[in-house]
Amino acid sequence: MASEGAGTAQGLVLLFESLASVFSTEIATLQTEPEIRLAQARYLGKKGKATELMKQLGRIPPGDRPAVGAAANRARESIEKLVEERLAGLAEASLAGELARSVDVTLPGRGRRAGTIHPLSRVRMEIEQIFLGMGYEVRTGPLIETEWNNFDALNTPADHPARDMQDTFFVEGGLILRSHTSPVQIRTMLAGPPPVKIIAPGNVFRRDDDATHTPMFPQCEGLHVDKNVSFEDLKATLITFVQRFFGPQTDIRLRPSFFPFTEPSAEVDASCFLCQGKPPARATCRLCKGTGWLEIGGSGMVHPNVLAAVGYDKYDVTGFAFGMGLSRMAMLKYGVTDLRLFYENDLRFLQQFPAG
Ligand code: DAH
Repeated sequence: MASEGAGTAQGLVLLFESLASVFSTEIATLQTEPEIRLAQARYLGKKGKATELMKQLGRIPPGDRPAVGAAANRARESIEKLVEERLAGLAEASLAGELARSVDVTLPGRGRRAGTIHPLSRVRMEIEQIFLGMGYEVRTGPLIETEWNNFDALNTPADHPARDMQDTFFVEGGLILRSHTSPVQIRTMLAGPPPVKIIAPGNVFRRDDDATHTPMFPQCEGLHVDKNVSFEDLKATLITFVQRFFGPQTDIRLRPSFFPFTEPSAEVDASCFLCQGKPPARATCRLCKGTGWLEIGGSGMVHPNVLAAVGYDKYDVTGFAFGMGLSRMAMLKYGVTDLRLFYENDLRFLQQFPAG
């Protein structure tokens, strides 16, 4: 008993030993960390049982004190060890409990919904890859343009009837929303000497809105200027492009046309990749409507006035240019019949274009 043992060294040693064993029984009944910490304080804290016992050390002969001190240390150590072990056990149990609660491996997985690339972006990226493979650089320009870059420098002066072909949006300060990507030709040539070999994808704006026209739409311009660039080079470039874009059996047809910035100019048709332009499939082909050909854009040899406008020597270099509508390319490639679908962002439409 504590009262009997108190006062003698042996009694104190016994009391310290029983302290640890009583603590071990007590801690076994506790379930939470705060409870355990409180119990620890009741034994080892400032006013704890072990501290109280130590106060009796003064009453025993000095020669016996080391033995009592050693017993006190053993008691403290074993109490601390018990506390540590118990807390570690609790932490492990709570983790296991959490895992058992939150992971039900029989539940169906939560699927990730991957986004897809918009068909217009896919077409743009595909065209970029094809032309990068032919040594072209990709250039872009601002959507708000000067009239000079958009028209004048492209051989389309203010009174030129061709300005009516592109019903233009005017913004403040004498600027316009670019009506085509051709001004990027001008910007590129102004920025440096020939040779120039670029494509310029980007959005353009016109006052148009129906099933086949939207007020904003994406185009892609192409420009190659160097010594001895010929119409033959233009044709070879266009054939390579359509074969990579629509398939290896695709052919092109160039029809005489007019653009102020090219001379001569040609409308570019690609042979219909659906019916191959061959009867009898051609007669009922919904894509080319029986013609065997798909209009894809305009092209021509860069007009000498354009080369002169940017300070190039029109006697030294020649060039070809072309332009196409990306939505038209996407409509043809994916068989989409209403242009507006590209801009409504209806998921039922967009999900039909797989990711990747
Ligand atoms: N800029 C023309 C348009 O938007 C398309 C075009 C035609 C661009 C012929 C060209 C070209 O570079 O040579 O209608």
